[in-house]
This record gives sequence, structure tokens and C-alpha cells, in this order.
Amino acid sequence: MDLASKIRSIYDYPIDGIIFRDITTLLKDGDAFKASIDAVTESFKEDIDLVVGIEARGFIIGAAVAYSLGCGFVPIRKPGKLPAKKISSEYELEYGTDSIEMHSDAIKKGQKVLIVDDLLATGGTAEASVNLVEELGGEIVGLSFLIELVDLKGREKLKGYRVKSVVEFN
Ligand code: PRP
Ligand code: ADE
Repeated sequence: MDLASKIRSIYDYPIDGIIFRDITTLLKDGDAFKASIDAVTESFKEDIDLVVGIEARGFIIGAAVAYSLGCGFVPIRKPGKLPAKKISSEYELEYGTDSIEMHSDAIKKGQKVLIVDDLLATGGTAEASVNLVEELGGEIVGLSFLIELVDLKGREKLKGYRVKSVVEFN
């Protein structure tokens, strides 16, 4: 299935010069959603203990991948959302920094982890997620994305890890 054609492109959102890749048009199409989850899951069928998904769109893809693999799901959240003891990791934005958080007891040392998000852009979010998983001793099997914005070279921040994406845009 041509999944790229199911993704809506919105020009100059949220700011001038950005082409926003809107997955809501894909998600509402049951066949496209299923094919997307199958594709994001495909190369990672080996024994994965946990899927880590990144708020918010990463929850939609990540939870479905975890269900498909029959493994657990761990949310990485934006600051201030998790109720229990947590760790956090900062990453660079175009201007300034942001951070993401994960519960300190979310991953046991040695557990095999697949990180899932809807989209890889600059790679800052993914790199910060890698740091959180490894801080808790998780073993990263790979990172899997529905969309990769290739020109932003997010992969360069993820050297040494298995990185897979299903749909590429420039
Ligand atoms: C988007 C996307 C990724 C991140 C990728 O999330 O879902 O998580 O940006 O960007 P990067 O590779 O440059 O770090 P966003 O922060 O817009 O959050 P949302 O899912 O809540 O919309
Ligand atoms: N996250 C970062 N860049 C994005 C884009 N161009 N479209 C959708 N989500 C994004």
C-alpha cells in the first residue's frame, strides 16, 4: 500500500516554512493504519520486552506495535505529566531546549527495548529517548518510525543503532 499518499501535508504549519506531515488522515483509514503498524513492527520481531513510545503521536503507533508484538508499553512523556519517581533528558530545539521524562522503574536492567515514534525529524527527541532507556540499563534493539524527514539527518544522532522508517519525505 502507498502509505505516503495517506499522509496529509500542511504547508506553513505550525510556522512559515514547515511542511507538517499530518498522520490523522492515515490513522482514520483502517487498512492504512494496520499496514503502517505491520511495517513499523516488521524488522523487529525478535524477543523484545518493551516498546517505548514518545508522547503524543508516538503513543498511537507505539501502543499498537506493543500489542502486535505482545510485549509491554512504556510511555515517555512531556515534562510534568508522570506521577511517580522519574528521570529526564534534555534535547536541543531550533531555539532553546526541551525535555522528556520516563518513570525510574519503567525498565529493568537488561530488558530489550524497541523505541517507537511517528516521525524522525532532527533526531533530538529520539536521542533523548535513547539516553533515558540506557540510563535505566535497557538494551536498545532498535528505533522504528513511521515517517523520516530525511533532509533533517536525524539518523546521524542515532549512529550505532538499528533505525528503520517506513515512509520518507524530504
Ligand atoms: C514530533 C514527533 C516526534 C518529534 C520529532 O513530536 O512526533 O516525537 O516531533 O522531532 P525531532 O526528531 O526533531 O526531535 P512533537 O514534539 O511535535 O509532539 P506531539 O507528538 O505531541 O505532537
Ligand atoms: N515533527 C517535527 N517536524 C514535523 C513535521 N514536519 N511534520 C509533523 N511532525 C513533525
